[in-house]
Amino acid sequence: MKSFGLNIWGDDNFIIKNDTININYGSKPSLLQIAKEIREKGYKGPLLLRFPHLIEKQISTLFHTFEKAKKEFNYKGAFHAVFPLKVNQFPNFIEPLIDVSKNYNYGLEAGSKAELIIAMTKTNIGSPITVNGFKDKEMISLCFIASKMGHNITITIEGLVELETIIQVNHEFNNKLEKPIMPKIGMRIRLHSSGVGAWAKSGGYGSKFGLTSTELLEAYDMLKKHGLLSCLWMVHFHIGSQMSNISPLKKALREAGNIYAELKKRGAYALGAINIGGGLAVEYSQHEGKTQRNYSLQEFANDVVFLMQDIAKSKGVDEPDIFTESGRYIAASHSVLIAPVLELFSQEYNEKGLRLKKKNPPLIEELNDLYFSISRKNAREYLHDALDHMESLLTLFDLGYIDLEDRSNTEILVNLIIKKSISLLQYEDTDELKKLQDRIQEKYLINFSLFQSLPDFWGLSQHFPVMPLDKLDIEPVNPASIWDITCDSDGEIGFNRDLPLYLHEIDISKEEYFLAFFLTGAYQEVLGMKHNLFTHPTEVIVCFDENGEYYIEKLVEAQNIIDVIDDLEYDTNIIDKTLKYRIEESNHINKEEKKELLGKLYLYLSENSYLKTIQATDEDR
Ligand SMILES: Cc1ncc(COP(=O)(O)O)c(C=O)c1O
Repeated sequence: MKSFGLNIWGDDNFIIKNDTININYGSKPSLLQIAKEIREKGYKGPLLLRFPHLIEKQISTLFHTFEKAKKEFNYKGAFHAVFPLKVNQFPNFIEPLIDVSKNYNYGLEAGSKAELIIAMTKTNIGSPITVNGFKDKEMISLCFIASKMGHNITITIEGLVELETIIQVNHEFNNKLEKPIMPKIGMRIRLHSSGVGAWAKSGGYGSKFGLTSTELLEAYDMLKKHGLLSCLWMVHFHIGSQMSNISPLKKALREAGNIYAELKKRGAYALGAINIGGGLAVEYSQHEGKTQRNYSLQEFANDVVFLMQDIAKSKGVDEPDIFTESGRYIAASHSVLIAPVLELFSQEYNEKGLRLKKKNPPLIEELNDLYFSISRKNAREYLHDALDHMESLLTLFDLGYIDLEDRSNTEILVNLIIKKSISLLQYEDTDELKKLQDRIQEKYLINFSLFQSLPDFWGLSQHFPVMPLDKLDIEPVNPASIWDITCDSDGEIGFNRDLPLYLHEIDISKEEYFLAFFLTGAYQEVLGMKHNLFTHPTEVIVCFDENGEYYIEKLVEAQNIIDVIDDLEYDTNIIDKTLKYRIEESNHINKEEKKELLGKLYLYLSENSYLKTIQATDEDR
């Protein structure tokens, strides 16, 4: 059985049953069954499935793991967490997140005014909101409005000018009050320690964010001068997302912990929390030996708790509350993108394409014999013979001794021999075989846009686990590269010898074949580009009832063509009128036909840009 590295990236969220990949929850339905049910309702393009039970699993694991660490070390501070909205702001993700996290006092982090409005609306009153990133007066005023609503909100100062603005806004909002109602204040520290991985520059002296030690002291003095030390309650840092190695976190924790303790000893009496940002990595790898993180969540939590306790003890201050803003860890696993294969692009290299003659050139006869008698024992020798014959036959063609049909037969037979020998020799991982795989790779045309649905692959070469939804009882033998349907050659996940993907040989005119991309739920969705005007795929939430049966909720269909054009600020009334006029005024068609064309046109405008099929149906023929 082929598992596509499920044991590495799957975290027990999915299981293989018979020949399909199934959700490891409730009645354990197969993804294929769910995809087919939605497609039967007429949604034929790519589908994004969201699983609230996986959001809940991540949140509860995060909280339970930290609680376990706290218990082990008898830690006095509390543990809190917020979800950073930048990681996924879509309502079909955020609303279930709020719903499943009710028991954890889980909050939201905002990095812009729009995100803050979402946080102010969706966070339960009392659950924490943290506000990071650069802020102007309006954004700071919004934080004050939130605190007046009763929200437990902390503004993280990224620079001294922000603090000056807070002091000014406080004056405007609280001038006449004896006891000001205002947000808590956090100070983001510019760490000496930098992170690891693609986002390492979020930490370190060169980082875009945070206060240096000199600025921290100045900020402290400013707060004291304005009687606002009672609001200073958090120090914050973030060393970068997808932290592959735990050691930079330990360094950062020591640095931040000592800053916390120093400020406290200086007189920051209300200071009570340390916010360690995000960074907890997700295992995206589906290949042995290529894993992307060297620590477990428990090790991460133990390190945070132990180091904070150690520093607090040695400096004689209270153990701080611990905040995390893990985003990727919470969101990545909750969604799966499913996209149908539309076509295989090397179908010409199959037996059906052979045009063997009654009498063929002797080398072609030999190739044919090699193909039909190749076995595990002789595969390597026959492969070398076939490659050798091909060179000779191509020379014969260049010299005019064989014709185009002979050349085509040569290409087909050699490709078939390579394919067969690779599958016979698959356990011999030699460089020669790897190179040959490049040559015979099949191009799978998939009904999705890489720019829209996997922008992190396009921009950052982020690998996402991918596998077919069924046939998992059959060894896939085709080295595969994936083409999307955009008119852009970057819309491809090429066959990668170091991270090879093998898919099944299939005849799309006879059977459907779907690919699923996993761990797609963090960061990417809002980055999705409308390149070629392909929009966000049709999405659904998949829930489970008390009997464990799944049901589908909140289907949001991919945007239709006319709405996409409208989004670009075209005047769609003019588009509508022009198309209508051009049909009605055409001299090439009669009245009946005009009516028919208009009907078709309006139907197509109301549908989305994804393809239905590129095979002609019986109706079309
Ligand atoms: C301040 C802050 N907190 C939290 C996060 C989330 O990080 P992650 O998704 O790695 O958990 C980020 C991401 O960039 C961030 O900038």
